[in-house]
Amino acid sequence: MSNSLLIRGASQIVAVSGRAPKRGKSLAEIDVVCGGAMLIRDGVIAAIGPVAQVEKLSESKRAQLLDVDGRIVLHGFVDSHTHLIHAASRAEEYELKIRGANYEEIAHKGGGILNSVKKLRTATADDLKTRARHFLERFAEHGTTTIEAKSGYGLDVTSELRILSLHKELDAEQPLEIVSTFLGAHVVPAEFRGKAGGTRTYLQLLVQQLIPEVAENGLAEFCDVFCERSAFSRTESKQVLTVGKKHGLRPRVHAEQLSNTGATTLGVELGAASCDHLEYLRPSDIRTLARSKTVATLLPGCDFHLGLKRYAPARHLIEAGAIVALATDCNPGTSPTSSMPIVLSLACNQMRMTPAEAISAATINAAYSLGRHKRIGSLEVGKQADLAVFEVADYREIPYYFGVNTCWLTMKRGEVVHMRD
Ligand code: NIG
Ligand code: FE
Repeated sequence: MSNSLLIRGASQIVAVSGRAPKRGKSLAEIDVVCGGAMLIRDGVIAAIGPVAQVEKLSESKRAQLLDVDGRIVLHGFVDSHTHLIHAASRAEEYELKIRGANYEEIAHKGGGILNSVKKLRTATADDLKTRARHFLERFAEHGTTTIEAKSGYGLDVTSELRILSLHKELDAEQPLEIVSTFLGAHVVPAEFRGKAGGTRTYLQLLVQQLIPEVAENGLAEFCDVFCERSAFSRTESKQVLTVGKKHGLRPRVHAEQLSNTGATTLGVELGAASCDHLEYLRPSDIRTLARSKTVATLLPGCDFHLGLKRYAPARHLIEAGAIVALATDCNPGTSPTSSMPIVLSLACNQMRMTPAEAISAATINAAYSLGRHKRIGSLEVGKQADLAVFEVADYREIPYYFGVNTCWLTMKRGEVVHMRD
């Protein structure tokens, strides 16, 4: 017997249907069904459309009923850039930053990513898992149904493998989907610094031991690098991503976050799934992205949290025809948030994206960057029933109300994973 659920009473269903990925003008085409209904069978969307049409199906008459009472139904957010597994906050650095220290200065003194590495290496797997579970619940409460998660706070063989194994365990043990990315090339760990050839030796460890082991054990789908003046150069990044690719790990790149390093052209050259951050893009980088299938993933939470004035050039990217996505970059150093709604608010207010563009960027285009757009990312017949229901009267109110969580219900594969009391 199949398990059927009829959702009705939505004042708007935001379907985001049509060709994926969405570029240019099509980013704003989100296909809003007013007063619609949706039939879900065994976790998959079986029908969607005007209420009269969906309700008259014989299966709808037998289905369990969920009346959302005038609320708005969206596909759950796909958060395509997070650093889920970390041991603790860096609230101490937050205060230093407020007092005027900048992110790179803190990192230079052994804080920043290395601070998180120190904390993670001494944490137990149980502690890390409990903290991650707590974050996953917060993601679900804010309407997120799939996240990408990066390693990168371990930076030695044992700790990196431990993080990636936790991604796998958590993916199996709780309802949100976790897509695993290996970020061994986050920064050079402390024990390799200040030694002659330290960076080279660490890179050898990555390409000769870690990447092959990660790939062989199916611990990640993607390989990422932090290509930045304080992390890895373009040449070093190329080495890591090329070896990753040879082992079946698709590239992603932390690109042009604090300076322009040529990471975007490298990413496109290597067929990266995504180049992320992009505050320091050059006009030619925008053209390169626009001609490619590499997604431009924008992370305005970082600029907000670090108090930086330079947001990524979203409008130029959209107008040039690049595939734009949005993500939280949830991490303890630059973007301590698991709220996609606040990211949408920042995208609209600071980068002048419209609410419709922000919704497509946070669902279908993010799903495309994870290679999952055929199964998730939009509300269409045959796709997985990953939903977020918001207690608002109009989809534009999702980014409009900032710092207020209007998510009322979240559903993964047709099962409720969060519901407000
Ligand atoms: O995406 N840029 C590199 N990685 C993270 C920050 C990590 C940290 O500061 O802990 C980012 O912003
Ligand atoms: Fe990041």
